[in-house]
Amino acid sequence: MKEKLEQIRQAALDRIAASDALETLNEIRVAYLGKKGELTGVLKGMKDVSAEDRPRVGQMVNDTRAAIEAKLEERKIRLAKKAREEKLKREVIDVTLPAKKNHVGHKHPNMIALEEVERIFVGMGYEVVEGPEVEYDYYNFEALNIPKGHPARDEQDTFYINDSILLRSQTSPVQVRTMEKGKLPIRMIAPGRVFRSDEVDATHSPSFHQIEGLVIDKHITFADLKGTLEEFARELFGEDTKVKFRPHHFPFTEPSAEVDVSCFKCHGRGCRFCKGSGWIEILGCGMVHPNVLRMSGIDPEEYSGFAFGMGLERIALLKYEIDDMRLLYENDIRFLKQF
Ligand code: DAH
Repeated sequence: MKEKLEQIRQAALDRIAASDALETLNEIRVAYLGKKGELTGVLKGMKDVSAEDRPRVGQMVNDTRAAIEAKLEERKIRLAKKAREEKLKREVIDVTLPAKKNHVGHKHPNMIALEEVERIFVGMGYEVVEGPEVEYDYYNFEALNIPKGHPARDEQDTFYINDSILLRSQTSPVQVRTMEKGKLPIRMIAPGRVFRSDEVDATHSPSFHQIEGLVIDKHITFADLKGTLEEFARELFGEDTKVKFRPHHFPFTEPSAEVDVSCFKCHGRGCRFCKGSGWIEILGCGMVHPNVLRMSGIDPEEYSGFAFGMGLERIALLKYEIDDMRLLYENDIRFLKQF
């Protein structure tokens, strides 16, 4: 029995000394001290040992177990230390290396232009509001005095979701949503994304952005509209910008106009930028049609107002002298960084 224990002990210690991984130590522990381990096997044979020898043999088994356990623990600590040292060596940081460049994003020209427009109107006491991009036919057309079958619907090749829901083709529905709330007076602009089933080219995209404007109060006249948009154009394009109102037609305004600004590039003499005319069209506007006011629950006898709508991309292209709208959507960082 004594030799057997001595043999087990020596074999175990040798294996422990030769092990080079924590997993191996575990295997050794199981092989000797586990439920089916060798030492446990010896313990099970104790029933054959005579009663007088039992305490002594028992003591020897315990000593062997303690010796193996102590060696396992010692080896475990060594291996763990070695593993940590190797990890530290692997993960050493060279603080003398040059730092990685931190690339900070850049505002998109659309966003720069939008913030500029917002700054101007907020300065005149306007609120910035938003409306949904997926819109009811009612808000996008019906309540804007464009009933079913109206030719103005054909001009906006629209993405329909079903008969009564569509991707808004203009930001004008936000006018209706704002008026419906019943809080007067109103001074708001509503920037946002709009959708039309247009082919992509230098000046068209199936998805672009507009900025809508609406003012409703008592005694608002066309003079207020003119003064407001003149002031806006001068702030955006420069103090000496001239503004021209051309009669036009929109179903939701009466009278309606398109607004041109004098070309800020050639100051009206005519150049490639304004296609020789000296003027550049920037928006549509007009006095809110009494039908539109009535449909949104506002009494046209008591209140009046004006509205306007402009294309954000158009403003950005003009302001930064970009000649192809597609550049705005390609998100080429070399392009975007220039503004
Ligand atoms: N919604 C018009 C369009 O997309 C633009 C517009 C014109 C808006 C006149 C207005 C307005 O508010 O008064 O073509």
